[in-house]
Amino acid sequence: MYLGIDIGTSAVKLVCADAGRILATSSVGIGTSSPQPGWSEQNPEIWWQATRDALGLLAGEISLSDVKAVGLSGQMHGAVLLDRDQCPIRPAILWNDSRAVRECDDIRAAQPQVGHIAGVLPLPGFTAPKIAWLKRHEPHNYARLSHILLPKDYVGLRLHGELATDTSDAAGTMWLDQASRRWHTGMAEATDVAVDWLPQMFDGHNVVGTVTVRAAAETGLNSGVPVVAGGGDAATGAVSLGATEPGRGFISLGTSGQLFVADRKYKPNPERYVHAFAHTLPDRWYQMAAMLNGARPISWIGDQLGLSAAEVVGLAETVSGDRVPIFLPYLTGERSPLGDPHIRACFFGLEDATTRAEICRSVVEAIAFCFADAAQSFGDTIGSLPELAAIGGGSRSDLLLGLISAVTEKPIVRSVGAESGPAYGAARLAACADGALTIADLAEQPATTDRFEPVEMYALFERLGRFRRLYTAVSTVD
Ligand code: XUL
Repeated sequence: MYLGIDIGTSAVKLVCADAGRILATSSVGIGTSSPQPGWSEQNPEIWWQATRDALGLLAGEISLSDVKAVGLSGQMHGAVLLDRDQCPIRPAILWNDSRAVRECDDIRAAQPQVGHIAGVLPLPGFTAPKIAWLKRHEPHNYARLSHILLPKDYVGLRLHGELATDTSDAAGTMWLDQASRRWHTGMAEATDVAVDWLPQMFDGHNVVGTVTVRAAAETGLNSGVPVVAGGGDAATGAVSLGATEPGRGFISLGTSGQLFVADRKYKPNPERYVHAFAHTLPDRWYQMAAMLNGARPISWIGDQLGLSAAEVVGLAETVSGDRVPIFLPYLTGERSPLGDPHIRACFFGLEDATTRAEICRSVVEAIAFCFADAAQSFGDTIGSLPELAAIGGGSRSDLLLGLISAVTEKPIVRSVGAESGPAYGAARLAACADGALTIADLAEQPATTDRFEPVEMYALFERLGRFRRLYTAVSTVD
């Protein structure tokens, strides 16, 4: 049996699987703090605590001593800043934090070729500009910096004691030369980082270390169990769906949103903020539009109205039409395809008669509209794909998948295990550790349970046009 641990933004999720099936899952919610506008932080200790709690829940269903290998997955781009004793210096600065805007301008000036080296233009969510910010604003913390890790790799450190990452998480830092898959000294220097602060890099299915005696006592796993490097959540989500070969694409509807297409070649397209990143498996890359707000606006509006996410979607299903306001869902700014860290969310067209149901509908439609923009930014690449699979909590909603299919004009399919995507992908990488799966096996696609065909909705396209015009009117980029 193989364990996948996904360090998400709103929960730590675990999947236990054999070579082809999910056997048990557990999940423990975690919070994010925003001490200043645009900031988004988590204390690394909560990831470890939530991992231990989720393992405690899993132990109610399966025997943890049957776990033969562990794989890691996690939110990408977070800066985990450690001192020379490998202890966190301050809370980690996450992927949806927008404080380091000025530092992005500095990187562009210092490295005009950055988009082609790092596969994407600088934006504050990536790891590198955060270190330049730290040096400028918290020099006392910068002076103590000895190691930098990504979120899942901090949990790896607690499990096996090594400072390590995989190529796909390294890809999201801006310090990776995507073409050669090695740390780029010039990019490190441009953000005041010493290359020896960066972890050793592995392919996702490679064993980094084994569960230590101490970690075994804290978690209930056996000591000596191998832990593979795993991947950033985009890459592990891809592995869960067999999106490891060219022509395989998917959408992810979690706290963030992603439109992902696998490739065997490195194809940078920085102008539209499409990310071209190294995959977690050798000789593979991918292109991705990364949307900062994903399906999160559904739980956000639910929190404001005292409704669960399922109730928000249920209300949204009861209405449609002209009276539905237009919502721009940019609660934490936007990355792809706008590259606009300062933009924020707004409703337009509220009337005295506007109902809760219409507000909920506008929020669900806005998520679909972001995927329409993302698909457009890929150009012809999307047109040649036969379909897109959907994963993440938002993939539960028929309404949302139907709307995305309509506006992207692509069939969307829901597969077995869709909600557990990245954790399942990490478990599949772990299964490679003792030969239960090969890299070629990882291209196998799970069975499909539902299919949504594009339906022509004239009124929806008209509203998409209004959505785009509204953004143009309030955009904060030139
Ligand atoms: C991808 C991205 C998010 C995070 C959190 O570029 O920023 O998907 O990995 O899920």
